[in-house]
Amino acid sequence: MSNTANIPAPALAGQLPVAGTAYGLGIGPGEPDLITLKAYNILQKADVIAYPALEDGASLARQIIAPHLAGNSQNDRIEIAIRITMGEPADPIYDQAALEIGEHLKAGKSVAVLCEGDPFFYGSFMYLFGRLAEAGHPVQTVPGVSSMMACAAQLGAPLAAKNDVLQVIPGPLSEDRLRAQLGNTDAAAIIKLGRHFPKVRKVIEELGLTDRARYIERATLETQKMIPLGDLPIDATAPYFSMILIHRRGDAWR
Ligand SMILES: C[S@@+](CC[C@H](N)C(=O)[O-])C[C@H]1O[C@@H](n2cnc3c(N)ncnc32)[C@H](O)[C@@H]1O
Repeated sequence: MSNTANIPAPALAGQLPVAGTAYGLGIGPGEPDLITLKAYNILQKADVIAYPALEDGASLARQIIAPHLAGNSQNDRIEIAIRITMGEPADPIYDQAALEIGEHLKAGKSVAVLCEGDPFFYGSFMYLFGRLAEAGHPVQTVPGVSSMMACAAQLGAPLAAKNDVLQVIPGPLSEDRLRAQLGNTDAAAIIKLGRHFPKVRKVIEELGLTDRARYIERATLETQKMIPLGDLPIDATAPYFSMILIHRRGDAWR
């Protein structure tokens, strides 16, 4: 609750980004056009851009915004790749990144932290938000088009209507928890599939929901794939950037 003390009052569009302020920029699910005007404008003028990256430096977030910086003449922009090492604790990495970003903020620079989708929807930006806000830095979050919205749009499958209760269910949950959540669902988005995909698929099958389930991976990117879950080969695997949408009635509008 105390974090709200550091959230600056909204500035006029032309004044953004404000010096010494960090912005968590929602940059959408993948297609570069699915970025808000506010995020786009901050991106153009930010002194520093930080983004999550794999160990080798590859970053989906950086890739998404690349076309928006192509014609940008700001050559002295500083970039910080926050390299997350799989299997290692992330806290020290965020501690270090927050310190580095904090130094730029203290020097009066504006910092845009890129976040795929929306920053506050399971987004890694929130770990920096907490640290920066607690250190007293002004931090603002710019909402983005979340992957859940993009997946529904691409699949042509409205998420929820009438009095449907929509659940967001992380794939890493235990089989029992998945069964309990999905057994009682009107509509669900199951995220973070990756290596949890076979377990999730098994529970969906057991609950008789397979013919209500749609699978999509890398929504809105050139490599997007989507298919009814039941049409996937039995030994199919799923990448991390994938999701299953379920609607018990089959279609939200019915
Ligand atoms: C840590 S969450 C981050 C969500 C993100 N902040 C958002 O608003 O979409 C990552 C999960 O979002 C889902 N996701 C993100 N982008 C996606 C995409 N382009 N297509 C399908 N699923 C996606 C996947 O389920 C992935 O495991």
